Parts: sequence; structure tokens; C-alpha cells
Amino acid sequence: MDQILKEIQALALPLIGQGKVADYIPALAKVSAKQFGIAIYSNKGELFTIGDATTNFSIQSISKVFSLTLSMKHFGAGMWDKVGREPSGQPFNSLVQLEYEAGVPRNPFINAGALVVSDMNQSRFVSPHYAMKTFIRRLSGNQEVQSDHKVANSEYEFRSRNAAMAYLMKSFDNFDNDVEEVLRSYFSNCAIRMSCVDLAKAFSFLANKGYCRHSDEQVLTEQETKQVNALMATSGLYDEAGNFAYRVGLPGKSGVGGGIVAIVPDQFSVCVWSPELNKAGNSLAGMAALETLSQKIGWSVF
Ligand code: DON
Repeated sequence: MDQILKEIQALALPLIGQGKVADYIPALAKVSAKQFGIAIYSNKGELFTIGDATTNFSIQSISKVFSLTLSMKHFGAGMWDKVGREPSGQPFNSLVQLEYEAGVPRNPFINAGALVVSDMNQSRFVSPHYAMKTFIRRLSGNQEVQSDHKVANSEYEFRSRNAAMAYLMKSFDNFDNDVEEVLRSYFSNCAIRMSCVDLAKAFSFLANKGYCRHSDEQVLTEQETKQVNALMATSGLYDEAGNFAYRVGLPGKSGVGGGIVAIVPDQFSVCVWSPELNKAGNSLAGMAALETLSQKIGWSVF
């Protein structure tokens, strides 16, 4: 594995310079582009890393999997009246389908869907962000996990698009709580900082039939775990989900901080990170690294 990781790093590093660090959140634009890391965590507890695998970065939309998991645990099948399970074929921050589809977002991973999930968690928890942080600390085994207030505040300052979605959903009666409060907790969740190692460990329950070995807990049932992986495979990379399935062949979830997590069911959870993004808002070098990794090792759910 270590040799394969070295080869992948050698292939991926020259791609840095071809993408663009997210700058629509000003506090994120300050991240140095020349970083690259991979962590692979096996169901047996083995850890393989290369590059900047222990450097913390903004997890951004990767947080949407944790909030979905929390809401599935607490709302069960009832939650699916408020959010769909179909790929959107649209960018993560698109508004167009929301009006046509009466304020019910296509899936929990586009921003509108994640906002509805955050709204549900707002109804369920006294402090939804605290609940998320505690949950993530437990799953990653890292008690130091924190949210970056500067990034969260920067997102809130430039919230117009996300606020527009949330208010539109409220106008369709698909949003129960105060929009500004939910936006605050959604942004605090996106601004959580973790490393590739933390994320590979925290996602390991999705590779392990819902069981997390660090916290020794069944996070989701085996069936729910399959369902989350199915949603990641069909919608985890937005309008690039098809391309990701074609190139990588695994359930995955990206964030505009440049992280991508992928699941090899019953075997491994993987996190790659490199801050520069392609046009769809997914890590450019990260995609290439995962593609080569899955091809070299023969990983694919297809
Ligand atoms: O709400 C936003 O736009 C960001 N906090 C998260 C977007 C994101 O990470 C999209 N993923 N590639």
C-alpha cells in the first residue's frame, strides 16, 4: 500500500496549479493550495497515510454526511417527506429545482437538502452544532475537533444564496425553525476542521456495516448504512456524481475545502485532500488520486 500511495502522490502533485481554491467563502480563499494528503483506514484498524494527512482543513460539505446520519438516527423514514433521494444534476448551490419542486430539495447533499436536514436537527437538539461536534469527536476518536469561527462567520456574512434557499423552502412550509439560527448551525458544521486521518476514521462505520470501532457503537443499522452509501454514490458529488462513479466507482462525498471521502464497503474508508477545485467544486488532484487508487487496487462497487 505504501508504494501505491507514493506513486499516486507523484501523479497527483503535478496537478496542483490546474484548479482553483474556493474563494466564494473569503476566509477559505486564504488556504495554501500546495497541499495534498491521503489517509486510508481499514476495517481491521490499519492506517495508511501519505503527504499532509494529519493537516486540518475545512470539511465543508463532507459535514452533510454526519448531519444526515444524525437525522436518520432520530427521524428514521419520516425524514424523507422533507427531502428527496434523487440526484439533482445541478451544482450544489443551485436554486432552480426548488421552485418547480415545491421547496422539497432533491437530496440531502445539495445545499438546500442539507439546510432542511439542519432544520430537522434544530428541532431535535437543544444545540445542534454541539450535538454534531460531540458526534464527530466520538466517531473520529479525536476530542480536539473544532469549528473555525472565522470561516463560519465568513460564510454567514456571505450567506445570500443559502439564505434564499432556506427562505424559499420556508415559504413552501418545508422549514420549521428560524432561518438565521439554522444557517448559523449549518455554517458552524461546514466550518469544522479535521484531517484526512480524522475523516477516514470518522467515516469507517460506513465501510463497516454501520459499526464504529473507536466508539464501539452501532452508528446506523446495516440497512441504513447501505442507504447512506447509495445516496453518496448517486449524489455525493452533485453534478459530477456520474463522473465520479465512472472514474472512481465508490460512494463518495466532497467539500469545497478540497476534501473527498470515499467508502470501499466492507474494507476501507479513504480521505484525500487537496484544496484546489475543479469547475464542479470538487478537489481536482483529489479526484485524480482516488481514480488512480481505485484502479490500481481494483476497488469499485460496480
Ligand atoms: O454552503 C456552502 O456553500 C458551503 N458551506 C459548503 C459547500 C460545499 O462544500 C460544496 N461541496 N463541494
